[in-house]
Amino acid sequence: MTTTKTTTIAVYGASGITGGHILGELRRRGLAAILVGRDAARLRAAADAAELTDARITVAALGDHDALVAAFSGADVVISALPAYVDNGEPVLAAAIDAGAHYTDVSGEQLFLKRVLDVYSARAEAAGVTVISGVTDNSLPADLLAYLTSRRVAGPAEIVISHLSKSGGNGSKGSARTVLAGLDWFRSGGWHYADGELRTGATARHPEMTFPGDTAPTVVSKFPQPPVLTIPRHSEVSSVEGVVATSILDQLGGFTAEIVDSLPETPSADLRYDLVVDAYGSDGARVRGVVSGVDSYRDSALLTVETAVRLARGEAKPGALAPAEAFDAARVLDSLEQFGITWRIE
Ligand SMILES: NC(=O)c1ccc[n+]([C@@H]2O[C@H](COP(=O)([O-])OP(=O)(O)OC[C@H]3O[C@@H](n4cnc5c(N)ncnc54)[C@H](OP(=O)(O)O)[C@@H]3O)[C@@H](O)[C@H]2O)c1
Repeated sequence: MTTTKTTTIAVYGASGITGGHILGELRRRGLAAILVGRDAARLRAAADAAELTDARITVAALGDHDALVAAFSGADVVISALPAYVDNGEPVLAAAIDAGAHYTDVSGEQLFLKRVLDVYSARAEAAGVTVISGVTDNSLPADLLAYLTSRRVAGPAEIVISHLSKSGGNGSKGSARTVLAGLDWFRSGGWHYADGELRTGATARHPEMTFPGDTAPTVVSKFPQPPVLTIPRHSEVSSVEGVVATSILDQLGGFTAEIVDSLPETPSADLRYDLVVDAYGSDGARVRGVVSGVDSYRDSALLTVETAVRLARGEAKPGALAPAEAFDAARVLDSLEQFGITWRIE
């Protein structure tokens, strides 16, 4: 008789908002969980809240590499759900690789993703594990939609990515801390990709966008979207740029430590969104891809668990990869419909 080994997922940052959603999904799928973090009581409370009675709980601070590696040993995949990856992210990634586990996270930071791709890909490959960073409601669908839409226009395609909150609700304190940690980068609009290189400066090539369901255009500004780094790896593109409504960028750009401290810990209940990818062909024709989601934090958590399960199954080759390099884009997007996350190409 053969027995099937239960997939084991370690979560660092399990006591946070996104971490809580991740634990709930691990329980729903019957996966074994290892909760790792800096505070045993908060980890225990998170395990109890998710009814993960059999979960292993291990305290390991970010500064203790050996403790992190020991905590992750036996895990098939490590999911990291931390704020401000530029400051906090590397220890968990390095330890996951050294523990021989695949890795994914919910980072929304271009600067962290650049480091992951430049510094950790060879290490992951040597260890025989796959790293997919930036699996959020924003980055993963944008990468997959760009793969699909860019192939429907005359190449090379010009890609514009935008994330539109449909409820106007506020995000989590963890997200606000992330923006604060990289405030200058967010204010600057970060990198766009043009003519074979990542570039800073320059304003949005399309200063207005008419979002799905709107009749009037919205004024937009350049925004540091992580898929700017991943899309050119798998698709023939002349440019890739992220934009956001200028009113949102003005709000984020005004964050101070005092404002972030005064924000509620939990995000708004209604966080529906559209993630929009426009691909313009060299003839000017446009194909639009849209993912409509339910809740940015819940959806990011569901996406990381979906990614983790696929990595544990061995679907992707070793190294640090873009989502569309690792998986079949349409199949992953289809698999999200069970969660009320829908997609379409117009
Ligand atoms: N679209 C997007 O880009 C998107 C969407 C969703 C989420 N996210 C990202 O997801 C991340 C998490 O957000 P969240 O709202 O879940 O944050 P959160 O509620 O503040 O949770 C943060 C977690 O990280 C842990 N943590 C924080 N600093 C730590 C440190 N120095 N050492 C060890 N553990 C530490 C916390 O543990 P303690 O309990 O010990 O404090 C907690 O478990 C953020 O980076 C956010 O930007 C991005």
